Amino acid sequence: MPSNRLVVVSNRLPVIVEQQGQSQRLRASTGGLVTALTPVMEREQGLWIGWLGYVGAKIDPALLKDFARDHAYKLKPVSLTNEDVEGFYHGFSNRAVWPLFHDLIGYCRFELEQWKSYDDVNRRFAKSVCEGLRPGDTIWIHDYQLMMVASHLRRMGVSNPIMFFLHIPFPSVDVFRRMPWRNELIRGLMEFDLLGFQTRRDHKNFVGCVKAMVPDVKISRGRGDTQIEYGNRTVRAGDFPISIDFDEFADAAASHEVAAEAKLFHTQFSAKKLALGIDRLDYTKGIPHRFLAFERALEKYPELRGNLSLFQVVVPSRTHVQDYQDLKGELDRLVGRINGWFAQTSFRTRRWIPIHYMYGRLDRTQLLACYRACDIALITPLRDGMNLVAKEYCASQIDGKGVLILSEFAGTADQLGKGSIIINPYDREKSADAIHEAYKMSLAERRKRMKLLRSEVRRKDVHQWVKWFFEAAGYSQQADSDRKSSLASLKAK
Ligand code: G6P
Repeated sequence: MPSNRLVVVSNRLPVIVEQQGQSQRLRASTGGLVTALTPVMEREQGLWIGWLGYVGAKIDPALLKDFARDHAYKLKPVSLTNEDVEGFYHGFSNRAVWPLFHDLIGYCRFELEQWKSYDDVNRRFAKSVCEGLRPGDTIWIHDYQLMMVASHLRRMGVSNPIMFFLHIPFPSVDVFRRMPWRNELIRGLMEFDLLGFQTRRDHKNFVGCVKAMVPDVKISRGRGDTQIEYGNRTVRAGDFPISIDFDEFADAAASHEVAAEAKLFHTQFSAKKLALGIDRLDYTKGIPHRFLAFERALEKYPELRGNLSLFQVVVPSRTHVQDYQDLKGELDRLVGRINGWFAQTSFRTRRWIPIHYMYGRLDRTQLLACYRACDIALITPLRDGMNLVAKEYCASQIDGKGVLILSEFAGTADQLGKGSIIINPYDREKSADAIHEAYKMSLAERRKRMKLLRSEVRRKDVHQWVKWFFEAAGYSQQADSDRKSSLASLKAK
């Protein structure tokens, strides 16, 4: 029987290694991609290649065997040295590509040694894919850390279909041109057979870059996708907005445990209403801008004082990168200043704290409880590929009373623009007005908007996303009933 195996490659494996004394344990990570791909990986006995996220002690091979037995697909770790992590991960991926693709050129550092390290690590990921590759395998590479893998695979003689999905935005040609290795990168991307982007804008930006930088291509628009004739190959590009498992979030949010936690959560604050922010610590998320807009709202609309608090969760991330450390310092200072100032000016509402700031992680019950309990969600990145927190908030809003304030620069805005209040995070005045508008919005209006948002997220969930992508790639998909039963069997384990 020909293989229909899916080989997924991402920088991080879909597991977290937990060290318990001398022994290790593997915990499956959560997230849209893992949820979407698990059933397919399981049915086709797939292979997932990636980094375990740390340097040093090797993983116990018995753990990988146990994982393959319990999950019906295999993991294959790629190991990185300290130099690789510095050059490839902290360096080129996160100091050059990440800020450039988010249109934040001021944060970019372009270093030749880091580019070389990126290309070399991409070659080693390709080598790892090659070992044991079968003729019918379909390879699916994910995200900005691995854009050169296909070109190395082709050089190694691989002719299997290779797909790519970019989880972050793709910049316009004017921004992309700043990259010193732009020609190598764009040609590297042209070695994929199908490239998937989050939004139509990202898709168009990529095609614009190809037009401007790759000679002798013939570009034609298909139904929803673009076909690029390149040498003797046809490369296709399309947009496929990623999503979440709506039912899983809605069902879990409706549980007694979450309801009880949500009730308790709200009673801990003296404010009548709560606004929520949840982000990885990242300068693309616009957290300082959000704090300043919140401060402005309190200045401009005194009725909010004592009545509205912002609960901001910041999840530690990329802590070795200087810009991330600087951002942490900036947030600490801003929260201190804003809370200090309002404590002084609002003596009578002393129990009220404007910004409750948590640097850490919530467990799943706490996260869902926050989504349920908070009256307003502030999802206001300066730029974001999609932003799944916005979708998770809507799915968890089972009472339908919450208001979503969304940045026009989040990929999600394309889909959720209608039911939310759209803001430009750089516009402090209008962002403050939006917070006030959300605070005052009538229950009927909130319900109407949240209904619209939830139906949009439900209709285009993560299972639909993977189906669309596989259809475009010509990868044969299992029947829906198979998917549901394999998911059920996985959950039962
Ligand atoms: C974004 C990227 C992912 C990345 C994640 C966490 O969502 O698109 O590829 O894994 O951030 O970042 P980290 O650097 O911790 O993997």
